[in-house]
Amino acid sequence: MGRCPDCGQWGSLLEERVTTEQRGVARSGSPAARSGAPTPITAVDIRNVARLSTGLGELDRVLGGGIVPGSLVLISGAPGIGKSTLLLQAAIRIAGAETVLYVSSEESPEQIRFRAARLGPLSERLLLLAETSLQVVLDQAERLRPNVLVIDSIQTLASDELESPPGAISQVREVAVRLMGLAKTKEVSTVVIGHITKDGSIAGPKALEHLVDAVISMEGEEHQVHRLLRTTKNRFGPSPEVGLFEMTERGLCEVADGSELFLSQRPSGASGSVVVPTLEGSRPLLVELQALVAAPGTPVPRRVLNGVEANRGALLLAVLEKRLGLRLGACDVYVNIVGGVRVSETAADLGLAAAVISSARNLPLDPGLVVFGEIGLAGEVRAVPMAERRLQEAARLGFTRCLLPRHNLDRAPSVPPSLRVTGLSTLDDLARELEPARASG
Ligand code: TYD
Ligand code: MG
Repeated sequence: MGRCPDCGQWGSLLEERVTTEQRGVARSGSPAARSGAPTPITAVDIRNVARLSTGLGELDRVLGGGIVPGSLVLISGAPGIGKSTLLLQAAIRIAGAETVLYVSSEESPEQIRFRAARLGPLSERLLLLAETSLQVVLDQAERLRPNVLVIDSIQTLASDELESPPGAISQVREVAVRLMGLAKTKEVSTVVIGHITKDGSIAGPKALEHLVDAVISMEGEEHQVHRLLRTTKNRFGPSPEVGLFEMTERGLCEVADGSELFLSQRPSGASGSVVVPTLEGSRPLLVELQALVAAPGTPVPRRVLNGVEANRGALLLAVLEKRLGLRLGACDVYVNIVGGVRVSETAADLGLAAAVISSARNLPLDPGLVVFGEIGLAGEVRAVPMAERRLQEAARLGFTRCLLPRHNLDRAPSVPPSLRVTGLSTLDDLARELEPARASG
C-alpha cells in the first residue's frame, strides 16, 4: 500500500520484518548486563576507553576527543557539502596505524583512489569496498574486523531481506540497526554518512538520530569555502561542539581561528552589518549578521531569513515594529549570517535587532562594535550565558565597543580593558546607542 488508509498520507508506511532473531543489542560488555539481569550501578565497570584519533583535530573535537571504540556515528549533510571528502581524509589518517574499511556505494574504487591521491599518503590498511548489499558489507566487516568502518552512504546500502528500495525509511533503519549490532558486538567503530536535503531533513538521517551514539551535521554553503561540523547528539562527550574547516584543492583544512575567517570580508561603513559574539558549544565565534530593509518589490513584502531560525526572526521583527515603531510590515526584510553559519542562540537577538535598525534607519555602525543579548516580547533585553567568554573573544579580535544586557554587566563579568561596554535594558536603549552621536562618542 502506498497510501495510509488511516491518515491518507502517501509513502508513510513502514515495512516491518517479523523476526525471531536476537532482540536488541547488548550495550555493555559486562556478562551481567548481557544475561538480562539488572546490575547495581556501583558494580558497573567503567573501562577507561581509549579514543581513536581521526587525525583531524576539528573532527576529534566534535566527537568529544576522538572515536569511541564500538560506537556508531552519523555524519549528515546536504549532498556535495564534503562528507565523503572529510571521511576519506580521516580514513587515510587512521589507516596510518589501524585498519579501515571504507564502503562506498556511491563511487567506484577508482574514483576514490583518484580523489584520495590528493588528500594524503596512502596505506594498504585502507581497504575499499564498492558494495550496496548490507549482507555483503556485514560479512566482510566480520571477516576483516576493521578498527573503523565507514559507510558512504546509508541511503545507498540496502538489506536483501526487505523489499523496499535503498533509501526508504525501513531500509535506512534496518541498515542502522544491523550496523549498530556489528559495532557493539564486534567493537567495530562505525561512521555512517547520511544525506539530507537543503531545506532541513528527509526521513533518513532524522529517523536514525535516536539509534546512533552521535550525530554530527556538516553545514556550510556549497559555493563558499568554509564548512562547519556541529554535534547535535553525543552519548560520549559534551555536545554541542563545533568544528571548522576550509575546503581547498587538497581537501578540508582545519581552521583554528573561526572568528578571523568569518570576519575577513566585512564591509566597512555599510549599514545593516553587525558582529555578534556567539558561542558554539564551548567555542566563542564572532559572526557577521547582515540585514537589509528595503521597499517591497512585490505586493506581499518578503521575509528572507538565512542563518537564523525563521520563527525567532519573525518574532523579533514583530517586537521591533511594535516597540520601536519601525515600519517593517511594509518593507522587504532580508537577514543573513555571513558564511552560511547558522546561529540558534537567542544571544544573537540583539545583533539582529541592531542590524535591522541600522538598515531601516540607514545608520552605519561603528566597525569596532559587537552586540549580544536576548530580546523578550516586551522589548526587554535579557541576560545570556557566558558573557565573559564573548567579551574576551571580541577583545581578542580587536573590537573596542560592546552592547550587552545590563543584567550581564551587573553580574560584573571582568571586562577586558580594551572594550568599552554599555549595559542595555530595553530596545529603546539599543536604538539610542546606535545613533551616530552616541556611536562615535
Ligand atoms: P564530497 O565529499 O563529494 O561531498 P558529499 O560526500 O557530501 O556529497 O565533496 C564534494 C565537493 O568537494 C566537490 O564539489 C568538490 C569539493 N572538493 C574540493 O574542493 N577539494 C577536494 O580536495 C575534494 C576531494 C573535493
Ligand atoms: Mg559523497
